[in-house]
Amino acid sequence: MCGIIGFIGKNVKENLVQGLEKLEYRGYDSSGMVILHNHNFFVEKAIGSVEKLKEKVKDIEFDGIGIAHTRWATHGKITIENCHPHFSSDNNIAIVHNGIIENFEELKLKLEKSGKYFYGQTDSEVIAKLLSKRLTINKIKRLIGKIEGSYAIALISKNNNEIYFAKNKSPLYVAQGIDCSLIASDPCCFVSKCDKFYTIEDGEYGKISLNGLEVYNRNGEMIEKQAQQLNFFFKDTNKEKYSHYMIKEINESKNVLVNLIKRYQEKDIIKKLKGINIKKFNRIYLIGCGTAYHAGLVGEKYLKERFKIDVFTRKASEFFYQNDVLDEKSLCIFISQSGETADTISAMEETKKYKTLNVAIVNTEYSTLASKCDLVFPICAGQEKAVASTKAYFGQCLVLYIMASFLNGENFIEHLMSFKKDFDFGNDNKIMQLADLLINKNYIFFIGRGFDYITALEASLKLKEITYIFSYSECSGELKHGTLALINQGIPVIVIANDEKCFNKTLNNAYEVKSRGGELVLISSIDIDNEIENNFEYYIKIKDCESDLKPLQTIVVLQKLAYYTAIKKGLNPDKPRNLAKSVTVE
Ligand code: F6R
Repeated sequence: MCGIIGFIGKNVKENLVQGLEKLEYRGYDSSGMVILHNHNFFVEKAIGSVEKLKEKVKDIEFDGIGIAHTRWATHGKITIENCHPHFSSDNNIAIVHNGIIENFEELKLKLEKSGKYFYGQTDSEVIAKLLSKRLTINKIKRLIGKIEGSYAIALISKNNNEIYFAKNKSPLYVAQGIDCSLIASDPCCFVSKCDKFYTIEDGEYGKISLNGLEVYNRNGEMIEKQAQQLNFFFKDTNKEKYSHYMIKEINESKNVLVNLIKRYQEKDIIKKLKGINIKKFNRIYLIGCGTAYHAGLVGEKYLKERFKIDVFTRKASEFFYQNDVLDEKSLCIFISQSGETADTISAMEETKKYKTLNVAIVNTEYSTLASKCDLVFPICAGQEKAVASTKAYFGQCLVLYIMASFLNGENFIEHLMSFKKDFDFGNDNKIMQLADLLINKNYIFFIGRGFDYITALEASLKLKEITYIFSYSECSGELKHGTLALINQGIPVIVIANDEKCFNKTLNNAYEVKSRGGELVLISSIDIDNEIENNFEYYIKIKDCESDLKPLQTIVVLQKLAYYTAIKKGLNPDKPRNLAKSVTVE
């Protein structure tokens, strides 16, 4: 996590702040910047959001060179000392870092023994303390020979007019505009400043100035980089009429559907879909983290319904410990909004030695995951800024639906067109009233069977991450094997029941909850009579649609439920505590 930005040119402070604002999705515990001015460092740091730093630097007007950082704490508390930039002992060099230096304790011990003083507890400070005087390419080469782990580092010194950099396992991009040069964790920082950018690969390092870019590979050879076009994906977005990105993005789910219907009829994508020779595979793995893992579970059902192949969904962080059979008859589908999630990338790297076919389902097509997989399928969701993933989940599930249907020879376009025609975002007033019932609760349970259980998992994750209410999801049928012990007077249990085949069974499970004092909420696409409705404190009817697409029709309503509950609790759903959108550490 964490985001870094470096800028050389006019209005350096403004450009650094703008960059940090765009990178805030990577962490917002604290932020800081350093600008080289008259051979001195101007430094400012602030705890909390970039807004706080912006306020502190509002009167600064410099041209020149600077680097900045927005932090998601991994090592060391959220304090000004631990806030980046960090400085060499002679105060000549400043660095910002995204990643984790795994051997920092060993290095720190050695440096302390040699008399170096550390003002903070971060692993990143070690990088600064390994340097002194001025920066050179050879010094960067020696530096990366010493540090182990993941890093995207930008460095400046009082005696240089360049930004030096190095990269391993954390994203890093550079760009040159007409009168500026930039370096950043995400090319979105380059919008309106340049139209092309360069991706720095693992092991590469170099420097950028107004005069040009120098990049070296692991062997110390200078290399020529290919520029990439900054495309529409990076278009600057704002909240428009919405008060938060989260609600805007939930409401953009239908656009994602429209984008996918269009994109998945285009030749290049059809060719890639045809590139998956499903008959060749004995087993399929779907791999992701958090919400992307839940999309994998949905995809598992789509695939199992259609093909007689073993399909397994794995949490990327657990993938190594499963001892799964992996060989050239294994299809691995990696799912990720950012394409930068460290656990997902590590799992993908691990599969490489088994010659599996690796497919990426990603939102960010320029990401590390996308660049390392054999086939890449875009989610076409556009930038997702709220930390809690909403429209990207929708897109991930849809791409899996398209993939499974296409490989099974179904006319997915027809199905998606009819889904689009009747798509319903739910009644916001009704959802808000339900939120009113939940705001003062300490525990909330979600139950469901089959697809509805997966929706329960995702709805529960969404609720806990932005409302901080303890929330737990369980298969309806499993309740009486333990979880019922937790149910007593007034505990809300949200029952998701869209499947006619098991509706009655799920109702019976709900009544078991009610007999123990639980407060029932029903979320269902099935028409019910008054007698059933009377058992529930609250009922939200979901628009009916084909069964494979019900998880999508239902999740938008439950995403909104999480959103409105957070709002009613006075919380900012776009920036929940302790979370970052791009989890670039394992
Ligand atoms: C939940 C959420 C996270 C992400 C997870 C994976 O709302 O956003 O659980 O889904 O960190 O991120 P990506 O999809 O970028 O790999």
